Amino acid sequence: MTDSGIENLLKEERLFPPSQAFASTATGTADLYEEAERDFVGYWTRQAKERLTWFKEPTEGLDDSNAPFFTWFADGELNISYNCLDRHLDQGGDKIAYHWVGEPGDTRTITYQELSDEVNKFANGLRSLGVEKGDRVAIYMGMVPELPIAMLACSRIGAPHSVIFGGFSADSIVDRVNDQGAKLLITCDGAWRRGTVVPLKDNCDTAMEGTPSIEHCIVVDRTHSDVSMEQGRDIWWHELVADQSTDCDPEVMNAEDLLYILYTSGTTAKPKGIMHTTGGYLTGAATTHALVFDIKPDTDVYWCAADIGWVTGHTYIVYGPLTNHTTSVMYEGTPDFPDKDRLWSIVEEYNVSIFYTAPTAIRAFMKWGVEFPDGYDLSSLRLLGTVGEPINPAAWMWYRDHIGPVDAPIVDTWWQTETGCIMISPLPGVTATKPGSATKALPGISADVVDIEGNSVPLGSGGFLTITKPWPSMLRSIYGDDERYVSTYWSRYPGVYFPGDGAKIDEDGYLWILGRVDDVMNISGHRISTMEVESALVSHDAVAEAAVVGATDDLTGQAIAAFVTLRGTFEESDDLHEELRNHVATKIGAIAKPKSIIFTPDLPKTRSGKIMRRLLRDISDHRTLGDVTTLANAEIVQAIADQAEAQQAKE
Ligand code: WT7
Repeated sequence: MTDSGIENLLKEERLFPPSQAFASTATGTADLYEEAERDFVGYWTRQAKERLTWFKEPTEGLDDSNAPFFTWFADGELNISYNCLDRHLDQGGDKIAYHWVGEPGDTRTITYQELSDEVNKFANGLRSLGVEKGDRVAIYMGMVPELPIAMLACSRIGAPHSVIFGGFSADSIVDRVNDQGAKLLITCDGAWRRGTVVPLKDNCDTAMEGTPSIEHCIVVDRTHSDVSMEQGRDIWWHELVADQSTDCDPEVMNAEDLLYILYTSGTTAKPKGIMHTTGGYLTGAATTHALVFDIKPDTDVYWCAADIGWVTGHTYIVYGPLTNHTTSVMYEGTPDFPDKDRLWSIVEEYNVSIFYTAPTAIRAFMKWGVEFPDGYDLSSLRLLGTVGEPINPAAWMWYRDHIGPVDAPIVDTWWQTETGCIMISPLPGVTATKPGSATKALPGISADVVDIEGNSVPLGSGGFLTITKPWPSMLRSIYGDDERYVSTYWSRYPGVYFPGDGAKIDEDGYLWILGRVDDVMNISGHRISTMEVESALVSHDAVAEAAVVGATDDLTGQAIAAFVTLRGTFEESDDLHEELRNHVATKIGAIAKPKSIIFTPDLPKTRSGKIMRRLLRDISDHRTLGDVTTLANAEIVQAIADQAEAQQAKE
């Protein structure tokens, strides 16, 4: 938990009520809170029926008889791709689904009709390869249109997909593919990143040496790179779809059938396969997308600048916006390529009206300087959003003042891979915002801040965030590990969902999320477990022992700080420092590369041998060292602190 969060709370008194003009046309209204308060199951059931098209309408709402294995709308039947595509075609097939912008500057405009045709052709292609309802399909791609097409095609034929972020390594693909026993892998030859090609297919080739369940690998020709194609196993996407029909019967899915698995980090080295099902997930995605972003489908151009490899992209680039017949921008590359004005040039060009990004990006924009957004006409914007980590009030104010316009509501949205959709956020047009606060739980969601015993804390105090009632888009379990599902989320406080975040509730009942309370770091809005990085480090020959903590970082929120003891004959050097950082990148992905590694003869340990990460965090954040009296080797702490200081001076 960061101290700055608590400090901010004490200082922050600014309050920004919605403008009269915004409030008068807002999609979400205050009476939704009252409706949901009276009957939260009734509220969600109404949303499910009004926002989705069902082949068979559900008569059941929430079933809590087998808690925490809750179900929602369990006798309902529907198809997700049908909801995202088919039902819009009669009236709105010509409408643009995606303005896609490639990193090198190429663009594609894709209407709902075109998207539907591509999805159906690819779905037929998948069926021709023997993919059936229930088969798992792994997807490892860059941000190209074929990515949402692949996801929607899977949902059309009832094959759960599992998207693996394109920044992950071959080893990470192996772990995830094997955990779920995926039958098929979809990838690209490569992905553009800052003008160079990330070799996605090569990574898949390495991975497929260790994934016996994969029968075929489908490859999109994105970068025209040289790749090896193994005959019989590997198939070009364009060849697979060439002769396929644009008609494909959607599979009739039960509301509780699995839609996707998405892996996320927990407190152990093994990522958790978070399971989302069909009816409840889509209800949550569509409802929150419409209400939180105040979607006006006829006029808005909406841009969620996340990667589809994370849950944000699943819910708010693919499933929410398409269900709501929205026009989106989808961008392939990074915000600073070819220059730091790239995003703002896209906002101007497409008249983007709603923009959603992460605090780490906003802090980067701040650092780069106002001249980049100032050079563009951003007056089309009318609502801004943030997600992924606590936003410091200074960044919030900068976002408002420089991306703006100043009367545009800012929605700070708290949620998780596990929650499937936004849980805590202002309702624009209703909620007065405070910079740095995600404000209050949305209609139909019940949140509380509790002490260690599970009692609600009084207004003005801090504790642990909890969600006290089930919600439709909640995870159903961890793939293959019901026990871990129960112990991670439902055991700390029986009957209540425990997300793992600390929070404060202020005198007005506003929630201030303070960050993780477990051994999970938040790097640029993405969750990385300390254990995962530690086990990557100790898998290197030179490393005897490793401890990893999240150090406070101005740009990325937290940065990975590693402390390593070496095996007998190995000696510390700058080369080894680099080699270990790269080793972690190979094992997990570049996102998990430690920012710093400190070599030390020993790690601070309790007499029972437990590593005291708290002290390492103090060292990393240059704080006064906490209590060392319970340590078996107190003298080591000062030695490490000196070393950290020396290393910093060197940088
Ligand atoms: C963790 C979930 C769901 C989107 C991306 C991250 C942190 C998320 C906020 C916010 C403060 C936030 C929490 C949460 N987080 N949004 N608005 N304010 N913290 O998904 O990888 O599943 O991580 O991100 O710590 O538990 P994720």
